[in-house]
Amino acid sequence: MTDSQSTPTGIRPQQLLDMMRRRRSSRTGFLEDSNVSEAEITQLLEAARAAPSGGNAQPWEFIVIRDTDMRMKIADLYKHQLRDKLELEKAIRGTSSVSGVGWRNAPVLILVLGDPRTSLCFPLRTAEDKADSHFFTGLANATLQIMLMAESMGLSTQYVSDCASPYFSLMLKHMLDIPQELRVYHIVPVGYTEVAATPKSRRPLESMVHYERYDAAKLRSRDYLEKFAAEDSIQAKDYDRGGERIRG
Ligand SMILES: Cc1cc2nc3c(=O)[nH]c(=O)nc-3n(C[C@H](O)[C@H](O)[C@H](O)COP(=O)(O)O)c2cc1C
Repeated sequence: MTDSQSTPTGIRPQQLLDMMRRRRSSRTGFLEDSNVSEAEITQLLEAARAAPSGGNAQPWEFIVIRDTDMRMKIADLYKHQLRDKLELEKAIRGTSSVSGVGWRNAPVLILVLGDPRTSLCFPLRTAEDKADSHFFTGLANATLQIMLMAESMGLSTQYVSDCASPYFSLMLKHMLDIPQELRVYHIVPVGYTEVAATPKSRRPLESMVHYERYDAAKLRSRDYLEKFAAEDSIQAKDYDRGGERIRG
Protein backbone atom coordinates (compact mmCIF):
# COMPACT_ATOMS: atom_id res chain seq x y z
CA MET A 1 0.00 0.00 0.00
CA THR A 2 1.45 3.30 -0.96
CA ASP A 3 0.82 6.50 0.90
CA SER A 4 -1.02 8.57 -1.59
CA GLN A 5 -3.10 11.70 -1.39
CA SER A 6 -5.54 10.07 -3.75
CA THR A 7 -7.07 7.42 -1.50
CA PRO A 8 -10.85 7.28 -1.90
CA THR A 9 -11.24 8.92 1.52
CA GLY A 10 -8.66 11.65 0.96
CA ILE A 11 -7.03 10.56 4.24
CA ARG A 12 -3.37 9.69 4.01
CA PRO A 13 -2.90 6.23 5.56
CA GLN A 14 0.69 6.93 6.61
CA GLN A 15 -0.43 10.06 8.42
CA LEU A 16 -3.06 8.08 10.29
CA LEU A 17 -0.54 5.37 11.17
CA ASP A 18 1.95 8.00 12.36
CA MET A 19 -0.72 9.50 14.59
CA MET A 20 -1.62 6.08 16.02
CA ARG A 21 2.04 5.49 16.76
CA ARG A 22 2.39 8.90 18.39
CA ARG A 23 -0.50 8.36 20.83
CA ARG A 24 0.92 7.72 24.27
CA SER A 25 -0.45 6.97 27.70
CA SER A 26 0.74 10.25 29.17
CA ARG A 27 1.90 9.77 32.72
CA THR A 28 4.33 12.65 32.80
CA GLY A 29 1.99 15.18 34.35
CA PHE A 30 -0.66 17.40 32.79
CA LEU A 31 -0.32 21.17 32.74
CA GLU A 32 -2.40 22.63 35.51
CA ASP A 33 -3.83 25.73 33.89
CA SER A 34 -4.30 24.46 30.38
CA ASN A 35 -7.78 24.95 29.06
CA VAL A 36 -9.67 22.39 27.04
CA SER A 37 -12.77 23.90 25.46
CA GLU A 38 -16.29 22.48 25.42
CA ALA A 39 -16.02 22.20 21.63
CA GLU A 40 -12.88 20.09 21.96
CA ILE A 41 -14.51 17.77 24.48
CA THR A 42 -17.58 17.44 22.26
CA GLN A 43 -15.28 16.47 19.39
CA LEU A 44 -13.77 13.71 21.55
CA LEU A 45 -17.19 12.46 22.58
CA GLU A 46 -18.42 12.47 18.98
CA ALA A 47 -15.45 10.23 18.17
CA ALA A 48 -16.52 7.89 20.98
CA ARG A 49 -20.11 7.92 19.74
CA ALA A 50 -18.90 6.79 16.31
CA ALA A 51 -17.22 3.67 17.76
CA PRO A 52 -18.34 0.19 16.70
CA SER A 53 -20.04 -2.05 19.28
CA GLY A 54 -21.43 -5.59 19.21
CA GLY A 55 -25.03 -5.53 17.98
CA ASN A 56 -24.69 -1.75 17.78
CA ALA A 57 -25.60 -1.93 21.47
CA GLN A 58 -23.64 1.27 22.25
CA PRO A 59 -23.10 0.31 25.90
CA TRP A 60 -21.25 3.54 26.72
CA GLU A 61 -22.09 6.68 28.66
CA PHE A 62 -19.70 9.42 29.67
CA ILE A 63 -19.36 11.83 32.57
CA VAL A 64 -17.28 14.92 31.84
CA ILE A 65 -15.71 16.17 35.07
CA ARG A 66 -14.16 19.62 35.17
CA ASP A 67 -14.88 20.66 38.75
CA THR A 68 -11.52 21.07 40.49
CA ASP A 69 -12.67 19.83 43.90
CA MET A 70 -14.17 16.70 42.40
CA ARG A 71 -11.07 16.03 40.28
CA MET A 72 -8.85 16.36 43.36
CA LYS A 73 -11.15 14.02 45.32
CA ILE A 74 -10.93 11.45 42.54
CA ALA A 75 -7.13 11.77 42.37
CA ASP A 76 -6.94 11.31 46.17
CA LEU A 77 -9.22 8.33 45.94
CA TYR A 78 -6.95 6.84 43.27
CA LYS A 79 -3.94 7.16 45.58
CA HIS A 80 -5.86 5.79 48.53
CA GLN A 81 -7.12 2.72 46.68
CA LEU A 82 -3.58 1.78 45.64
CA ARG A 83 -2.73 0.60 49.16
CA ASP A 84 -3.83 -3.02 48.83
CA LYS A 85 -2.41 -3.24 45.30
CA LEU A 86 0.99 -2.08 46.55
CA GLU A 87 0.83 -4.38 49.56
CA LEU A 88 0.03 -7.37 47.38
CA GLU A 89 2.83 -6.60 44.92
CA LYS A 90 5.35 -6.15 47.74
CA ALA A 91 4.28 -9.29 49.56
CA ILE A 92 4.20 -11.55 46.53
CA ARG A 93 6.65 -10.06 44.03
CA GLY A 94 8.92 -8.24 46.43
CA THR A 95 8.62 -4.97 44.52
CA SER A 96 5.84 -2.60 43.67
CA SER A 97 5.63 -0.15 40.85
CA VAL A 98 2.39 1.56 40.03
CA SER A 99 1.47 4.64 38.08
CA GLY A 100 1.48 7.88 40.09
CA VAL A 101 -1.30 10.43 39.86
CA GLY A 102 0.35 12.18 36.93
CA TRP A 103 -3.15 13.09 35.81
CA ARG A 104 -4.05 15.05 38.97
CA ASN A 105 -3.83 18.34 37.08
CA ALA A 106 -5.60 17.26 33.91
CA PRO A 107 -8.32 19.90 33.46
CA VAL A 108 -10.90 17.35 32.30
CA LEU A 109 -11.63 13.78 33.27
CA ILE A 110 -13.88 11.73 31.03
CA LEU A 111 -15.36 8.83 32.95
CA VAL A 112 -16.40 6.02 30.63
CA LEU A 113 -19.36 4.02 31.94
CA GLY A 114 -21.09 0.98 30.49
CA ASP A 115 -24.62 -0.34 30.73
CA PRO A 116 -24.50 -4.16 30.66
CA ARG A 117 -28.27 -4.27 30.10
CA THR A 118 -27.56 -3.34 26.50
CA SER A 119 -26.89 -7.08 25.94
CA LEU A 120 -30.63 -7.10 25.18
CA CYS A 121 -29.53 -5.96 21.72
CA PHE A 122 -27.80 -9.28 21.03
CA PRO A 123 -29.30 -12.42 19.51
CA LEU A 124 -29.94 -14.93 22.30
CA ARG A 125 -26.91 -17.11 21.60
CA THR A 126 -24.64 -14.08 21.44
CA ALA A 127 -26.05 -12.81 24.72
CA GLU A 128 -25.30 -16.17 26.34
CA ASP A 129 -21.82 -16.61 24.83
CA LYS A 130 -20.37 -13.17 24.43
CA ALA A 131 -22.30 -10.55 26.37
CA ASP A 132 -19.28 -9.74 28.56
CA SER A 133 -16.67 -9.61 25.83
CA HIS A 134 -18.91 -7.55 23.53
CA PHE A 135 -19.65 -5.16 26.39
CA PHE A 136 -15.98 -4.53 27.13
CA THR A 137 -14.94 -4.43 23.48
CA GLY A 138 -17.51 -1.69 22.83
CA LEU A 139 -16.23 0.35 25.77
CA ALA A 140 -12.62 -0.19 24.71
CA ASN A 141 -13.41 0.96 21.17
CA ALA A 142 -15.09 4.14 22.42
CA THR A 143 -12.16 4.84 24.75
CA LEU A 144 -9.57 4.40 22.02
CA GLN A 145 -11.54 6.62 19.63
CA ILE A 146 -11.45 9.37 22.27
CA MET A 147 -7.71 8.92 22.57
CA LEU A 148 -7.03 8.96 18.85
CA MET A 149 -9.18 12.01 18.31
CA ALA A 150 -7.38 13.72 21.21
CA GLU A 151 -4.02 12.86 19.64
CA SER A 152 -5.12 14.39 16.35
CA MET A 153 -5.97 17.59 18.26
CA GLY A 154 -2.65 17.76 20.13
CA LEU A 155 -4.24 16.72 23.42
CA SER A 156 -2.78 14.10 25.74
CA THR A 157 -4.73 11.30 27.41
CA GLN A 158 -4.19 8.38 29.70
CA TYR A 159 -5.92 5.19 30.80
CA VAL A 160 -6.96 4.94 34.44
CA SER A 161 -8.45 1.47 34.66
CA ASP A 162 -8.11 1.11 38.42
CA CYS A 163 -11.36 3.02 38.70
CA ALA A 164 -13.14 -0.22 37.80
CA SER A 165 -11.90 -1.99 40.93
CA PRO A 166 -14.70 -2.65 43.43
CA TYR A 167 -13.81 -0.04 46.04
CA PHE A 168 -12.94 2.74 43.58
CA SER A 169 -15.99 2.18 41.39
CA LEU A 170 -18.39 2.07 44.35
CA MET A 171 -16.94 5.31 45.68
CA LEU A 172 -17.25 6.93 42.25
CA LYS A 173 -20.84 5.75 41.95
CA HIS A 174 -21.62 7.36 45.26
CA MET A 175 -19.74 10.61 44.56
CA LEU A 176 -21.13 11.07 41.05
CA ASP A 177 -24.71 9.72 41.43
CA ILE A 178 -24.04 6.88 38.99
CA PRO A 179 -27.01 4.48 38.83
CA GLN A 180 -26.46 1.02 40.27
CA GLU A 181 -27.12 -0.62 36.89
CA LEU A 182 -24.07 0.94 35.25
CA ARG A 183 -20.45 -0.19 35.43
CA VAL A 184 -17.47 2.10 35.77
CA TYR A 185 -14.95 1.32 33.01
CA HIS A 186 -12.05 3.80 32.63
CA ILE A 187 -11.20 7.35 33.51
CA VAL A 188 -9.58 9.19 30.61
CA PRO A 189 -7.77 12.33 31.78
CA VAL A 190 -7.53 14.91 28.99
CA GLY A 191 -5.23 17.90 28.77
CA TYR A 192 -1.86 19.17 27.71
CA THR A 193 1.39 17.69 28.91
CA GLU A 194 4.74 19.32 29.36
CA VAL A 195 6.88 16.31 28.66
CA ALA A 196 6.23 13.66 26.03
CA ALA A 197 5.77 10.15 27.40
CA THR A 198 8.47 7.66 26.48
CA PRO A 199 7.27 5.49 23.60
CA LYS A 200 6.53 1.91 24.64
CA SER A 201 7.99 -0.93 22.62
CA ARG A 202 5.89 -3.00 20.25
CA ARG A 203 6.67 -6.54 19.17
CA PRO A 204 7.89 -6.85 15.57
CA LEU A 205 5.10 -7.38 13.06
CA GLU A 206 6.51 -10.62 11.71
CA SER A 207 6.45 -12.16 15.21
CA MET A 208 2.66 -11.83 15.49
CA VAL A 209 1.35 -12.33 11.97
CA HIS A 210 0.70 -15.75 10.42
CA TYR A 211 -0.14 -16.37 6.80
CA GLU A 212 -2.76 -18.88 5.71
CA ARG A 213 -2.36 -20.93 8.90
CA TYR A 214 -0.77 -20.62 12.31
CA ASP A 215 3.00 -20.93 12.25
CA ALA A 216 3.78 -22.93 15.40
CA ALA A 217 7.40 -21.73 15.30
CA LYS A 218 6.09 -18.31 16.34
CA LEU A 219 4.24 -19.52 19.43
CA ARG A 220 5.82 -17.67 22.29
CA SER A 221 7.32 -19.92 24.97
CA ARG A 222 6.65 -19.41 28.65
CA ASP A 223 10.35 -18.39 29.05
CA TYR A 224 9.96 -15.78 26.35
CA LEU A 225 6.84 -14.39 27.99
CA GLU A 226 8.49 -14.24 31.39
CA LYS A 227 11.45 -12.37 29.88
CA PHE A 228 9.07 -10.05 28.03
CA ALA A 229 7.16 -9.31 31.23
CA ALA A 230 10.41 -8.67 33.09
CA GLU A 231 12.04 -6.50 30.45
CA ASP A 232 9.51 -5.00 28.07
CA SER A 233 6.12 -4.82 29.75
CA ILE A 234 4.90 -2.06 32.02
CA GLN A 235 5.90 -4.30 34.97
CA ALA A 236 9.51 -3.69 34.11
CA LYS A 237 9.48 -0.01 33.28
CA ASP A 238 9.32 3.09 35.32
CA TYR A 239 5.76 4.32 34.81
CA ASP A 240 6.56 8.00 34.79
CA ARG A 241 9.67 8.15 32.67
CA GLY A 242 9.26 11.05 30.33
CA GLY A 243 10.78 11.71 26.95
CA GLU A 244 11.43 15.01 25.30
CA ARG A 245 10.00 18.23 26.72
CA ILE A 246 7.17 19.33 24.42
CA ARG A 247 5.77 22.33 26.28
CA GLY A 248 6.37 24.64 29.20
C1 LIG B 1 -7.31 -1.99 29.10
C2 LIG B 1 -6.17 -1.07 29.47
C3 LIG B 1 -5.98 -0.69 30.78
C4 LIG B 1 -4.95 0.17 31.13
N1 LIG B 1 -4.84 0.62 32.42
C5 LIG B 1 -3.92 1.52 32.74
C6 LIG B 1 -3.88 2.11 34.04
O1 LIG B 1 -4.72 1.82 34.90
N2 LIG B 1 -2.89 3.01 34.32
C7 LIG B 1 -1.99 3.37 33.39
O2 LIG B 1 -1.14 4.19 33.70
N3 LIG B 1 -2.00 2.84 32.14
C8 LIG B 1 -2.95 1.94 31.79
N4 LIG B 1 -3.02 1.45 30.52
C9 LIG B 1 -2.06 1.91 29.50
C10 LIG B 1 -1.05 0.83 29.07
O3 LIG B 1 -0.12 0.60 30.09
C11 LIG B 1 -0.40 1.36 27.80
O4 LIG B 1 -1.37 1.45 26.78
C12 LIG B 1 0.74 0.45 27.32
O5 LIG B 1 1.78 0.41 28.27
C13 LIG B 1 1.32 0.95 25.98
O6 LIG B 1 1.76 2.29 26.12
P1 LIG B 1 1.15 3.48 25.22
O7 LIG B 1 -0.34 3.56 25.54
O8 LIG B 1 1.87 4.71 25.65
O9 LIG B 1 1.38 3.10 23.81
C14 LIG B 1 -4.06 0.62 30.14
C15 LIG B 1 -4.26 0.25 28.80
C16 LIG B 1 -5.31 -0.56 28.46
C17 LIG B 1 -5.56 -0.89 27.00
